[in-house]
Amino acid sequence: MSTPSLFEPFTLGRAKLASRLVMNPMTRSRADAEGLAGPLMAEYYGQRASAGLIVTEGVAPSPDGKGYARIPGLWSPRHAESWKPVTSAVHAKGGRIFVQLMHCGRIAHPLNLPAGARVVAPSALRAPGQIHTDAQGMQPHGEPVALDGPGVEAAKAAFVEAARLAVEAGFDGVELHAANGYLLEQFLSPVTNRRDDAWGGDLGRRLRFVLETARGAAAAIGADRVGIRVSPYGVNGGMEPYAEVDDTYRTLARELSAAGLAYLHVVDHSAMGAPPVPEALKADLRREWKGALILAGGFDRASADRALAEGRADLIGVGRPFISNPDLPRRWREGLPLNAPDMGTFFTPGPKGYTDYPAAA
Ligand SMILES: Cc1cc2nc3c(=O)[nH]c(=O)nc-3n(C[C@H](O)[C@H](O)[C@H](O)COP(=O)(O)O)c2cc1C
Repeated sequence: MSTPSLFEPFTLGRAKLASRLVMNPMTRSRADAEGLAGPLMAEYYGQRASAGLIVTEGVAPSPDGKGYARIPGLWSPRHAESWKPVTSAVHAKGGRIFVQLMHCGRIAHPLNLPAGARVVAPSALRAPGQIHTDAQGMQPHGEPVALDGPGVEAAKAAFVEAARLAVEAGFDGVELHAANGYLLEQFLSPVTNRRDDAWGGDLGRRLRFVLETARGAAAAIGADRVGIRVSPYGVNGGMEPYAEVDDTYRTLARELSAAGLAYLHVVDHSAMGAPPVPEALKADLRREWKGALILAGGFDRASADRALAEGRADLIGVGRPFISNPDLPRRWREGLPLNAPDMGTFFTPGPKGYTDYPAAA
């Protein structure tokens, strides 16, 4: 078999990708107060359609899940309608786009939530640190309510309904955000899941919420349109490594592989200050996972080529360079210089630092 190349087509579930280069999910906080996607977002994603696959920013599947200011939602037909210009803009240029479903759980503040929504988590443990609010600047994270049994079922159902709405909105699939310390990872980790009922305790019960959510989404829209993102050893949102971490992710990968999901997306945030994901664990996940594997975190052209050539991944996810280079695939292919991203405008409203990065001449 020839060495796989970044710029060759790849079949991901039922989606035909033009290349193996994936745009990582990145929150940009440009939705309106109701969490609707607007024309600026269609322009932004359309500009980046030459990625083999775009994974959108984290999108809340329910009002309780919308922990950050100005992030978008996907819990009503109006939300689905608002996303149609985004998916059309990407498809018109031959691109493919999955929506990342992100329930923030305890990484939230009441001021960021729609009226009537609550900060929820597996256990009533407030996240350390602070979160931005538009009304009152930085604030301590909200005090979460531990989900009761019906609350857990409702949270699961919200992901499944959001997956259905995603298809209605024209997305090619969904990525479940089980990384970076948000609700799905809050159930996985014993650091944040201190339950002793059917949803926490031993490994099988900690995995249950994620497994049932993934199987529910797969039953609703087809396993080949569902991917999942994980960040073992991540420290975002007050997460900490724990003794059973390798076993947790190996078991998760085995179970979800059997469910036939389209892909597993493993992010290593050591380039952003987290402990590295051990190479041995990445190799175990590669072995356990029968579907496509995306590796992400800190890649440049050379390290992306190496990971593919060595068979460590099928696809490579790239984040920050896509913020500042809408035409990143062409720049990498032709060895053109890159624009540097401006961190000051990652989450600010409006086009500055969003749709005004130039493509190469
Ligand atoms: C501005 C910004 C927003 C992000 N938002 C998300 C998000 O919504 N969901 C997610 O899974 N990761 C998010 N991430 C993490 C990225 O997907 C990615 O894993 C990280 O940037 C490392 O990849 P890179 O080194 O290629 O940038 C975000 C990163 C940045 C810089």
